[in-house]
Amino acid sequence: MKKVLVAGATGYLGKFAVQAFKQQGYYVRVLTRSEERLYQPGPFTAPALTKADFDEVFLGEVTKPDTLVGMLDDIDIVFSCVGISRQRDGLTFEQVDYQCNKSLIDLCAGSSVTRFTYVSMQGAENIMQLAITKAHEKVVGALKTSGLEYRIVRPCGYFSDMGAVFDMAKKGRAFLVGAGTNKMNPIYGGDLAQACVEITAGDELEVEVGGPDIMTQREVVDLAFEVVGKPVKVTVIPMWLARGLVKFIGLLSTQFGDLADFIVTAGEIDGVGPRRGTTTLRSYFEQLNSA
Ligand SMILES: NC(=O)c1ccc[n+]([C@@H]2O[C@H](COP(=O)([O-])OP(=O)(O)OC[C@H]3O[C@@H](n4cnc5c(N)ncnc54)[C@H](OP(=O)(O)O)[C@@H]3O)[C@@H](O)[C@H]2O)c1
Repeated sequence: MKKVLVAGATGYLGKFAVQAFKQQGYYVRVLTRSEERLYQPGPFTAPALTKADFDEVFLGEVTKPDTLVGMLDDIDIVFSCVGISRQRDGLTFEQVDYQCNKSLIDLCAGSSVTRFTYVSMQGAENIMQLAITKAHEKVVGALKTSGLEYRIVRPCGYFSDMGAVFDMAKKGRAFLVGAGTNKMNPIYGGDLAQACVEITAGDELEVEVGGPDIMTQREVVDLAFEVVGKPVKVTVIPMWLARGLVKFIGLLSTQFGDLADFIVTAGEIDGVGPRRGTTTLRSYFEQLNSA
């Protein structure tokens, strides 16, 4: 039985990943700084885990490598989806997405770990002007030169981010950055977790993963209103204004400025990857609506 350490286990993808590795017969050790958070449901339908979903908890702070001593004992594979999706700690993408994952990679040297699967982002390597993509791709670079076997998962947007659109529709008004004509095929966390387990065991080194429906941002907004059953009300923030706001926010806070820069850039470019997930966005919105 292969032993996997899941880092980022309390996040949207991480919770599904813990379940998927366990269901596929892995021995699962989860790294978390808060065991309690494992058992709480995550946002946008991320499951509350139970003790049956994993084998062991390792309590440690991934930002503090001295708290991770013994974490990798007897572990074969590290799976990491540690990163900042929602701002919480006031840390930068460099400090979390890069430094934390680089620390995990460094800790593997001289350990029993032979393979490391890292979750980056679809198309990250093409938008390297952003702090988040720079951080992700620095991890990818470090992994490639680490001597470990590596697998890089490059997902399209998660349904958790589409959940934010749904919430706006529920409140009666959605905000859209730019015209919303860019295309995407977001993916459900459970489908992505399944793909992550398959990619971890497979031979392909870097794999893009998308959901079943390719839609424009505007179509996603319209779908959210349709499912909620409210008239479509959309405020379009023109790109020139959004770019100005990014600069202003960046002056107040590097962290939020970087996040805003990413959100605005995502409103300008397509985010389409090979269709691998099967759960439709409509069924996900219907699930949120009945929750
Ligand atoms: N969301 C998307 O659409 C999308 C698309 C493509 C790729 N990705 C990438 O996929 C990865 C996972 O995304 P997600 O949406 O599942 O993220 P998430 O829900 O925000 O979860 C992030 C995980 O990282 C941990 N983490 C964050 N900051 C930390 C810190 N300072 N110290 C210790 N742990 C910390 C969190 O632990 P705590 O619970 O303890 O905070 C959590 O387990 C990210 O790298 C993201 O960039 C996301």
